[in-house]
Amino acid sequence: MKNSKKINLIYITILLSSILLLVKCQTKSSNSRAYIEANTQLEAGRYLVIIGGCNDCHTEEYAMKEGNVPEDEWLTGSVIGNQGPWGTTYASNLRLFVQDINEDDWVETIQTRKSMPPMPWMNVNNMSDVDARAIYKYLKSLGPKGEKMPRNVPPGKVPKTPYISYVPLNMDVEH
Ligand code: HEC
Repeated sequence: MKNSKKINLIYITILLSSILLLVKCQTKSSNSRAYIEANTQLEAGRYLVIIGGCNDCHTEEYAMKEGNVPEDEWLTGSVIGNQGPWGTTYASNLRLFVQDINEDDWVETIQTRKSMPPMPWMNVNNMSDVDARAIYKYLKSLGPKGEKMPRNVPPGKVPKTPYISYVPLNMDVEH
């Protein structure tokens, strides 16, 4: 009799802990976004920067040189402007940017900022905390380098730097 009471107690305890675990898991999955796993946070950050395409704009000539730019020069910004109806914008020097901002503010910037094209905020705003923190740590590990980028140029004004035009052409052709 004593023994069966003990067994019942064990069953109830197991049942209760499973329910608690289930509730905890559900809250976690509804609140957290997907993130990548790697051996270290730096490895994760480096991987995300590459596959997230950040170098394409934030590292000068990275796309033109098919990625053949030494890692030491990555993410120091690009003085080649991006011109469209919004004027001309310059992909910032992210290695200097992270010197002036703490990790929590970086996460908030990544998840909430909306500024000018072609920075793909509509994609980047979906990044999880875990991934955003990994990128921050990676940028910090590269250390400060280079200069701040030129100020944006308003629409209609010709920039004093080289620039890429994002004006769509040939749009009246049937497609
Ligand atoms: C298609 C080009 C492009 C890509 C790809 C891109 N960016 Fe940007 N980014 C820009 C431009 C241009 C600006 C400046 C926008 C402005 O002036 O409003 C910018 C601004 C930023 C800023 C604000 C910095 C500041 O000085 O205020 C952050 C942070 C940033 N980008 C992070 C990233 C990260 C992280 C990635 C990769 C996941 C990325 N960007 C990919 C073009 C790009």
